[in-house]
Amino acid sequence: MAETIETLQKTSRVIQPSDSIKSGTYIQNYEQAYKQSIEDPENFWEGIAKELDWFSPWNKVLEWNYPWAKWFLGATCNISYNCLDRHTKSWRKNKVAVIWVGEDGQERIFTYAALHREVNKSANALKSLGLHKGDRVTIYLPKIPEQIFVMLACARIGLIHSVVYSGFSAPALQSRIQDAEARVVVTADLGYDRGKKIPLKTVVDEAVSNCPLVEKVIVVQREKGHFPLTAPKEIDWDEWVQGQSTDCEAIPLDSETPLYILYTSGTTGKPKGVVHVHGGYMVGTYITTKYVFDLKDEDVYFCVADPGWVTGHSYIVYGPLLNGATILTAEGKPDYPNPGRWWDLIEQYGVSIFYTTPTAIRLLMKYGEDWPKKYDLSSLKVLGSVGEPINPEAWEWFHRVTGGTKPIMDTWWQTETGMIMVTPLPSVPLKPGSATRPFLGVEADVVDREGKNTDHGGGFAVITKPWPSMMRTIYKDPDRYLLYWNTIPGVYTAGDVCHKDEDGYLWFMGRADDVVKVAGNRIGTAEVESALVSHESVVEAAVIGKPHPTAGEMIKAFVILKQGEHESTDLIKSLKDHVLRELGKIAVPREIEVVPSLPKTRSGKIMRRVLKAKELGQDPGDISTLEE
Ligand code: WT7
Repeated sequence: MAETIETLQKTSRVIQPSDSIKSGTYIQNYEQAYKQSIEDPENFWEGIAKELDWFSPWNKVLEWNYPWAKWFLGATCNISYNCLDRHTKSWRKNKVAVIWVGEDGQERIFTYAALHREVNKSANALKSLGLHKGDRVTIYLPKIPEQIFVMLACARIGLIHSVVYSGFSAPALQSRIQDAEARVVVTADLGYDRGKKIPLKTVVDEAVSNCPLVEKVIVVQREKGHFPLTAPKEIDWDEWVQGQSTDCEAIPLDSETPLYILYTSGTTGKPKGVVHVHGGYMVGTYITTKYVFDLKDEDVYFCVADPGWVTGHSYIVYGPLLNGATILTAEGKPDYPNPGRWWDLIEQYGVSIFYTTPTAIRLLMKYGEDWPKKYDLSSLKVLGSVGEPINPEAWEWFHRVTGGTKPIMDTWWQTETGMIMVTPLPSVPLKPGSATRPFLGVEADVVDREGKNTDHGGGFAVITKPWPSMMRTIYKDPDRYLLYWNTIPGVYTAGDVCHKDEDGYLWFMGRADDVVKVAGNRIGTAEVESALVSHESVVEAAVIGKPHPTAGEMIKAFVILKQGEHESTDLIKSLKDHVLRELGKIAVPREIEVVPSLPKTRSGKIMRRVLKAKELGQDPGDISTLEE
């Protein structure tokens, strides 16, 4: 590993920021600003918090009771107030907040005042169901504006939202509804995927049939009558909000009040419900959006994520709205109806900030440079990448086709961190493939298993001090929260392998644990394994991640069949269909290999590391603990 890191660096060039970028950006001297911010982080974060509105002030910035943090103690606030009312009370009232474009080209535009009204109506509709502060609402929607309305509506009245990505299948949705004990589910009849209709309501029907705590299912009907509502639990969205008042006060909440739960994968089969709170999360997402993308009032901000993932929470909904930005959000894939889709949107709407993913860039690369060349991309100012390491080739391509002068912010962070943690700012010299340096107020490092500084060379990425938007716990599972802070004593272990170069630049190399990043989506190998062994023909399964040219990583599964079962194309297909049904499309293994046995430790733990090394033709390292 060390060798590949060295090679990578030797080929890396340094790109200095242009004078025009540097002179106009918020943070013109990163080194100085960073040094100052970490000399007294509490003072730094307090200064940022003061840029936002609070109903009553804090009496303490941070209470750090390792590893439990509370920020802005005693203060009351509401993130929805800061996303909406702060702007409707200003000249931004009639500024465009959200431009939404459907896969079919349909356009819906909301000013801050209009968004405010929609959110208030949804909040009143939620109240009409008898929901109370702290109740959970599961949101299983495609990328449509109602997703934003209902998230902010929950926040407004102190409900906790749990957005579940609409690509998950019924059993995966069901377990997330059950863990959160949601009283209400909000869904739609259909999603669209490359022109195909995805029947979401059917998935919800199946999931909810096993969730007795769910009292109501709200259904946005995009094609009225497609799935007639039948059960008494079901309410049509339009009828639900019709007649609701467009006024609804955002209630003052203690800054540590939970805002949302977002499920993410880890090393066990059970997804973890990451909990974020109003106060600190609002401060972290607000300032990172502003500084990383150099967000100004005249910008048009386009982030391609789905609100089903944390990027959508922090950098489509909360961060940009906290800043009063104009947000473009578009349903659909980058190459549908053709590979000019996103370039076309950039030209049409004059996008200046474009935040995307390495997987999407690699996909667009395959279609060639003629596609971006067809469009006027001169409105672009700052670019962003997130979700997985961006290889220098993809970085250089993205840089070149967008004009060769726009800085790319390679942002490293996690569902758990809530906000961008390691990233360039537009004024920072770039090295293609490196997420560069920690954000202001953030202390990140690379250490060995004992927590010792590795100076130069590879190790584990850690965060050494608490930060405002850090997760507060794992829902109903505080022990799993503790693991982040005691795997390497005293610091937050991110689970990533990382390398720090002589300039202090960080190079994230991938996960150190049993998590695979397929197209930037986080899949726990244990989840796929347990789906596979629940198939009647399988006794045991092991899953690994394997490099893939566009998706970054792909899933490969090794299975041991039950006695009497034989390998066949039909069987492999049936295994894939089974994972599709259990978890959803993103978790389906691309390759499945039938094997007679699996490498295990004497205590019976499958050694995925050995399987992976063998698969990639590498040295498996120390195999002295291997049993078979
Ligand atoms: C994991 C977190 C961050 C929001 C979307 C994914 C990987 C993320 C980068 C990057 C290299 C990255 C890490 C991290 N990752 N961004 N810029 N360079 N790796 O959130 O699903 O919580 O996944 O994504 O492995 O731990 P997530």
